[in-house]
Amino acid sequence: MASTQPLKIGIIGAGIMGRAHAGFLAREEQTELAAVADPYTTALAEDAGVPHFTDHRQLLRMEKLDAVIVANPNAFHVSTAVDCLDAGVPVLLEKPAAASYAEAADLVAAAGRSSTPLLVGHHRRHHPAVRAARRLIGDGGLGRIVAVNGMWLTKKADSYFDQVWRREPGAGVMLINLVHDLDLIRHLCGEIVSIQARTSNSVRGFDVEDTAGVVFETESGALGSFIASDAATAPWGWDQATEDDPTYPYNPTSFCYSIAGTEASLSFPQLGRYYHEGPSDWTRPLSLRFEAKEAGDSYTNQLRHFAAVIRREAAPAVTAADAARTLAVVEAAARAAAEGCTVRVADVLGG
Ligand SMILES: NC(=O)c1ccc[n+]([C@@H]2O[C@H](COP(=O)([O-])OP(=O)(O)OC[C@H]3O[C@@H](n4cnc5c(N)ncnc54)[C@H](O)[C@@H]3O)[C@@H](O)[C@H]2O)c1
Repeated sequence: MASTQPLKIGIIGAGIMGRAHAGFLAREEQTELAAVADPYTTALAEDAGVPHFTDHRQLLRMEKLDAVIVANPNAFHVSTAVDCLDAGVPVLLEKPAAASYAEAADLVAAAGRSSTPLLVGHHRRHHPAVRAARRLIGDGGLGRIVAVNGMWLTKKADSYFDQVWRREPGAGVMLINLVHDLDLIRHLCGEIVSIQARTSNSVRGFDVEDTAGVVFETESGALGSFIASDAATAPWGWDQATEDDPTYPYNPTSFCYSIAGTEASLSFPQLGRYYHEGPSDWTRPLSLRFEAKEAGDSYTNQLRHFAAVIRREAAPAVTAADAARTLAVVEAAARAAAEGCTVRVADVLGG
C-alpha cells in the first residue's frame, strides 16, 4: 500500500543540478529533501536545514532514506550509484549514466544484480511534447521516418568552465549536452546504428570539444544530422525552445528538431504536423495541424515517476541498459570524430 508520508530523499552532489533537484523535491508534496552529501560545499544542506555529509557512503550509513538523487560529476556516477544499490537505496542518477560506455557496462551489471531500482535522469523523455511526439510517431502519424535534423546551440558563460571537470575528458558538449539529444532521437526515431562526426575545440581551446556535428543512420534506414555547440550565441536548442527550465530564457521562435516522414513532418517542440490532404506532392500546399500535448514539465514528471519507482509502483522508464546504449552512440561519435570514419554502434557495444 502506498505510504502517505513524504519520501525522504538524499542528494549526492550539491552543485547546480543538485540544488535544482532540491527545488523540485520541495515543490512536490510526496517528496522531501532529507540530507545532502558533498565533499566541498555545505551550502545546500545549511539552506535546507538538513544533515550534511562529506562522503556519500556516510550518508547511506547514517540516514534512513527512501532514495537518493546522484548529481555529482560524471566521473563519479557509476561508483556512487553502485554504492547506493549495494546499500539498497533506490537511485535517480543524473545523465550521463557514466563517463564512458565501458563504465556504463559496469553499471548495467550492478543494476542487473540488484533488486533496488535505478532510474537514469534523461529527464527530457518525460516532457509532454516528447510523450506526444513518441505517441504520434509510434502510431504511424508521420509514415516511415526518412530524416531528422536537430540543433543544440547556445553560449555558456565562461565562468561555467571554472569547474575543472567541465573542461576535461568525461565532459565536453557531446557528453554533457548532445547526449540528451541523441537519447531523444533514439527514443523518438529508433536505434542509431552508425554515425559519423566532427568535433572542434577551436573556440574555447579546452581538451574537450565545444562544438560537434554528427550524421547518423537509424535501424529503419532514416538519416539524421545534428549540430551542437556551447560556444555559439543562438536561439536553437531544447533549452531555449521548450520553457522546460526557467534558467534558460524561452525563445518562442526557436525550435530544436525537425522530423520528416514519408507521410508528414513534425516540428519540435511546437508539434506542428505538416502533411498533404490527399496524395503527397511538393507542388501542392501543405496543411499544418498542431498536435495536442499535456501540461507539465519534464523535471516534475520525472520526479513523480521516480516516486512511483521508489514505491515499486512503476519500473524505471530509463534503465541503466537503455542509458548505456545512448552512451554507446556518443562513444561511437567520439571515435568517428577521432578517426575520421563511420563507426557502427554495434562495434562499441561489442567492445
Ligand atoms: N539533467 C540535466 O539536464 C542536467 C543539467 C546539468 C547537469 N546535469 C548533470 O548533473 C551532474 C552535476 O552537474 P552540475 O552542473 O551540477 O555540476 P557542479 O560542478 O555544479 O556540481 C557537482 C557537485 O558535486 C560535488 N562533488 C564533487 N565530487 C563529489 C563526490 N565524489 N561526491 C559527491 N559530490 C561531489 C561538487 O562539490 C559539486 O558541488 C553532472 O553529471 C551533469 O551532467 C544534468
